[in-house]
Amino acid sequence: MSPASGTPEPFYDPARSYGDNFEHGPFGLFADNTFAVPADEPKHTFLGYKVHTPFGIAAGPLLNGKFVNAALDAGFDLPVYKTVRTRQYASHPWPNVLAVTVEGDLQPGRRLVGHQNYGSPLSITNSFGVPSYDPDFWQPDLAASVKHARIGQVVIASFQGTLSGHGNVDAYIADFALAARLLKETGVKIIEANLSCPNEGTANLLCFDKHTGRRVLQAIRHEIADLPLMVKCAYFNDNERLRGLIHEIGGLVDAIVAINTVPAEVVDDAGNQALPGEGRLQSGVCGASIKWAGLEMTRRLVELREDLGHKFEVVGTGGVCSVQDFDDYRRAGADAVMSATGAMWNPRLAQEVKEHSHEF
Ligand SMILES: Cc1cc2nc3c(=O)[nH]c(=O)nc-3n(C[C@H](O)[C@H](O)[C@H](O)COP(=O)(O)O)c2cc1C
Repeated sequence: MSPASGTPEPFYDPARSYGDNFEHGPFGLFADNTFAVPADEPKHTFLGYKVHTPFGIAAGPLLNGKFVNAALDAGFDLPVYKTVRTRQYASHPWPNVLAVTVEGDLQPGRRLVGHQNYGSPLSITNSFGVPSYDPDFWQPDLAASVKHARIGQVVIASFQGTLSGHGNVDAYIADFALAARLLKETGVKIIEANLSCPNEGTANLLCFDKHTGRRVLQAIRHEIADLPLMVKCAYFNDNERLRGLIHEIGGLVDAIVAINTVPAEVVDDAGNQALPGEGRLQSGVCGASIKWAGLEMTRRLVELREDLGHKFEVVGTGGVCSVQDFDDYRRAGADAVMSATGAMWNPRLAQEVKEHSHEF
């Protein structure tokens, strides 16, 4: 059962493979398209676009255009098309999503037990390896979803570069820029550079490497001119390190999205690695237990924006499973809010926010 609404079926089904979800999803209420999108004038603005509700689905659960269209129909006014690459890239083997048991707030680097009881409050681990189809597939697919958006809705597209076998940094940066160009060609109105997923074969996230992060964003900016650019960051333990990053990149981006998942080791009941394959003992945790980290980053980004004199908008993500969570992020200063795990298990979440939020 869903933790939030009694809905039995998440729109991404963890019991099925990534490919099966991609082909046959979305599932449950999301697929039924039973929600009413308001006809009144949008009251909010995000990155220069009018939006009904500054609320969306973060990069990941919306695997392709069918999912994005369903999200738009369900009233998620800022849906993000799952991170794409400049070429086809395979998914990690199934399972890619498991529930995890966490007592209270999750601190980074814990060991957790993974299982299939998706109860409330819900935290999960997700481990896909950022799969992608070829641009030949995703360019027309994304372009059609951009057109599906109604007044007051904006489709966002997430992307990242792919490191070559030789680890050549210049080629990696050029690949980010190429992905941005291919996205721009689709007519998408906002793009999101993902600097927060482990880049293949390296332990560090790009957002923790401020110099390379800056070079990546400069190359993208050069390619896209004034197309609105968001950057996705992970949780930072160290505020001085975050300040250093914002100092480097704050003037290059239009919005900063935080956070991605929080890393943990995930094992089964017997203490063995839960997700099969090399490098998958540690994976990213999202959902209710990381809300504290997303809220903290939202507050810190708002403060740093003031301190350093930047203008970027702040998009708060992490553990948004209810209207209360949305309101908490807005009070923390988020210009927009996004949910991944919460929305997957509650396709009515955007409607609930529209009906009951005190913060928009
Ligand atoms: C199924 C799933 C797939 C995800 N895939 C991506 C991805 O491709 N790119 C990305 O930047 N973040 C990805 N994420 C991370 C989310 O965008 C989000 O930052 C994180 O899950 C925290 O939000 P939540 O607590 O609401 O889930 C994924 C999350 C989930 C649940």
